[in-house]
Amino acid sequence: MKPDAPLKPHPPLPDYYPDLAQRPAFVRGLFDRTARYYDHVNRLLSLGSGSWHRRRELTRAGLQPGMTVLDVAIGTGLVARQALRITGDPQSVIGLDVSAGMLDEVRRLLNIPLMQGLMEQLPVADQSVDLVSMGYALRHVADLNTTFSEFHRVLRPGGVLLILEIARPTHPLKRTLLKFYLGRLVPLLGRLTTGERDTQTLMRYYWDTIEHCVPPETILQAIRAAGFAEADCRVEFDLFRTYSGRKAI
Ligand SMILES: C[S@@+](CC[C@H](N)C(=O)[O-])C[C@H]1O[C@@H](n2cnc3c(N)ncnc32)[C@H](O)[C@@H]1O
Repeated sequence: MKPDAPLKPHPPLPDYYPDLAQRPAFVRGLFDRTARYYDHVNRLLSLGSGSWHRRRELTRAGLQPGMTVLDVAIGTGLVARQALRITGDPQSVIGLDVSAGMLDEVRRLLNIPLMQGLMEQLPVADQSVDLVSMGYALRHVADLNTTFSEFHRVLRPGGVLLILEIARPTHPLKRTLLKFYLGRLVPLLGRLTTGERDTQTLMRYYWDTIEHCVPPETILQAIRAAGFAEADCRVEFDLFRTYSGRKAI
């Protein structure tokens, strides 16, 4: 099942790129330039809880030794490292990212198969993996419909989709606090602690894409439209959202 109309995760953000055609190059360049600071900034924003949360969600999704994981938008490998802790086999976790800078970082840490490519056009065979994971990258794809169809295509029957995200809180006070924390404080701390203006831009962009992202119901609907059964979105603290789905057997 392949839905036709493109679904963009957020409207264009002209503060960062003059027109939509330049968005992919902006995103790739930003992640390339900030790759070596990504883990540091991530610790700032998650207050050190990131690895624990990623591992818990992989376990909840049913990841076990013997399964094959495709971790798309692997970044520095924050999800993949936890997947590897569970499966125990370096050949069982495959990473994909568009950014060469991010792939260089992950290569220093993990000896796993890595590919440079786009989530929207996975260079991966049909029905070849048991779990597709995507951590905090949903807001960067060109089209959610194509991306979810690709995830569905590469999963084996019965395979699981796991998407970790942060979403704009529904409660106005929480939203204001988060906007200050993620949109102002973390970008400033990122810049002060690394001396790099790009880390500030990365974190400002992070918040702006969260603030303008399509609502969770739209994302869930797109997951269903791509053919996934048991589509679900679990919410914690009105902030963390875990989307999941299963490819029918
Ligand atoms: C916020 S990082 C997430 C890294 C990691 N998954 C985590 O849990 O922290 C987003 C990653 O998505 C990658 N990315 C952005 N757009 C992409 C695309 N269209 N296809 C593949 N990777 C993409 C970026 O290069 C970056 O490494």
